[in-house]
Amino acid sequence: MNTQMMRETGASRSAGLIAAPDVVRTLTVVSSLRANQPATSKYSEFQTQQTAAKESARQLQQVIDLIPLQMFILEPESSASFENQAAHEYFGPLQAASLKARMMEVTHPDDLESVMGTYKNALASGQPFEAEARLKSKDGLYRWFLQHMYPLRDEQGRIVRWCGTRIDVDDKKQSQENAHRESLALREEIDRTSMFEEIVGTSPALKAALARIAKVAPTDSTVLITGETGTGKELVARAIHKRSSRAKRPFVSVNCAAIPKDLVASELFGHEKGAFTGALQQRLGRFEMAEGGTIFLDEIGELPAETQVALLRVLQEREFERVGGTRSIRADVRVIVATHRDLPAAIEGGTFRSDLFYRINVFPVEMPALRERREDIHLLVEYFVDRYSSKMGKTIRCIERKTLDRLQSYSWPGNIRELQNVIERSMIICDTENFSVDDSWIANRACANRPLADELVAQEKEMIEAALAETRGRVSGPSGAAATLRMAPSTLDSKIKSLNIDKRRFQVN
Ligand SMILES: Nc1ncnc2c1ncn2[C@@H]1O[C@H](COP(=O)(O)OP(=O)(O)O)[C@@H](O)[C@H]1O
Ligand SMILES: [Mg+2]
Repeated sequence: MNTQMMRETGASRSAGLIAAPDVVRTLTVVSSLRANQPATSKYSEFQTQQTAAKESARQLQQVIDLIPLQMFILEPESSASFENQAAHEYFGPLQAASLKARMMEVTHPDDLESVMGTYKNALASGQPFEAEARLKSKDGLYRWFLQHMYPLRDEQGRIVRWCGTRIDVDDKKQSQENAHRESLALREEIDRTSMFEEIVGTSPALKAALARIAKVAPTDSTVLITGETGTGKELVARAIHKRSSRAKRPFVSVNCAAIPKDLVASELFGHEKGAFTGALQQRLGRFEMAEGGTIFLDEIGELPAETQVALLRVLQEREFERVGGTRSIRADVRVIVATHRDLPAAIEGGTFRSDLFYRINVFPVEMPALRERREDIHLLVEYFVDRYSSKMGKTIRCIERKTLDRLQSYSWPGNIRELQNVIERSMIICDTENFSVDDSWIANRACANRPLADELVAQEKEMIEAALAETRGRVSGPSGAAATLRMAPSTLDSKIKSLNIDKRRFQVN
C-alpha cells in the first residue's frame, strides 16, 4: 500500500509537477501513515483513512488558497513544486517548467545574484532565510517582495522541501525610497543653505544665483558678479573664497571706485621706491598681499584705461610688475570682480576694454535686486532685527505689521544695504519691545508715467541715495558717495541740497 502510494507520487513527479492537492495529500498521508503504522491495518481501513485525508487535504488547500500571502513549496532536488492561488494570480499559472527555473526568470536581473547567493547558502546550511527582490508579474511589471523560506525535513532530519512565503512590500519600499529621496533633497537643501548661512533668502531668484555660486566656488575660475549696489556682491565674493581651496589664504578686497585714478596701479601692483613723487618706500600691492588667495576687485567698471591693460596681463599671463619696477612678479591669485555697471554699454562708450571684458566674463553671476525678490524681505528683516537687537542688547518681541507691510512694498533702491541700515537706525531709536520703522525713511517716491524731466530727477535722487546708503552718508573721501558716483564732493553736496536729501538718514551712530 505504501508502495502504491509511492508509485502514485512518483508518477506525478515524473510528470514534472505535483498538483497542489497532491502535495498536501502526500504530506498529510505520509505523516498519518507513519504515525499509525498502517502495515497492520486493513485495505478498507486505509481507504477510509485516505478519503478522510483527501478531504482534509482539500480543506487545507482551500485554506492555503484563501491566504492573501503567496505560498509555495519548492523541491530542490526535483522540478516538483506547488504554489497557492495568490501566487498564481500574480505570476499566472505555473507551467511545466520548474518553479526554480521560473524564479530565475521572474526575478529582476539586478536582484538575481543576491537572491541566488542567499538561496545557495541556505541550501548548504539548511537554515531558514529571507530575501528581498523585485519579481515580475504576469503583466510584465516588477514589484518588491519579501520572501521567506523554511526547510521542511523528513524524520531523519533531511531537508526534503522548502516552504516559502512572499509578502508584497512594494508600497513600503516605494515610500522608503521616496523618504530617502526626500531626505537627500533636504540634505542638499540644508547643505546649500548652510553653505551660505550668511546669505539670507529663499527666493527662487536668489537660489538660482546661489546654485551658480556653489558650482563655481571650488574651481579657480574668474567670476564676474553683477548687480545693483547693495545686492550682496561682496558677500558673495567672500562666500566664494570661503568655499574654495584658497580659503585659508588671504581674501583681499579692493574698491576700484574709491581709489584716485593715478594711484590705482600702485595700489594693485605696488611700487618701487622712487617710482613717483612721494614713493619714499617700496610698497606691496594688493595682488602680492593676496598671494595664494583671492583678490576681489569691486567696481571694476571704474578702473582707468592703463590699469585695465595691466589687469588684462595678470589674467592672461599671471604676471605683473610693480610701478617703477622692471621685474615680473608671478601672481597665484584668483580674481573675482564685481560691478553695478552695464559693462557692454561701457565698452560701447569706450570706457571699458572689450578684451578685458571677455577675460573677466568667464563665469557671470547676477545678483537680483531686492525688489525682484520681495519674498526675502520678511526673512531679511527678521535676520537684521535679530542681529542688531542682540548687538545692542535689546529685546524685541514683535515687528509691527504696518512696518513689515511698508518694508515689503518699498522699492529699495539701495537694496539690502539700505534695508540693513534702516533696521540698524530704527533699532537705535527703538525703546519698546515692538519694533517699528519711521515711515519717512521708507517713503516710496516711485511713480509711473512721470514726465521725463521728473523721471530723471527721481532717478538722480535714487542713485545719490543709494550711494549715500552704501557709504553710510559719507560724501567726500576715497570711500565717500562722491567717489562712488565719480563726481566732485562739492557738486554732490549741492545736489544733495537741491534734491532735498537728508544725509543724516544714512548715517549710523
Ligand atoms: N542675502 C543677504 N543676506 C544677508 N545680508 C546680506 C545679503 N546680501 C547683502 N547683505 C548685506 O548687505 C550689505 C551690502 O552687501 P554687499 O555685499 O556689500 O553689496 P554690494 O557689494 O553688492 O554693494 C552687507 O552688509 C551684506 O552683509
Ligand atoms: Mg560692494
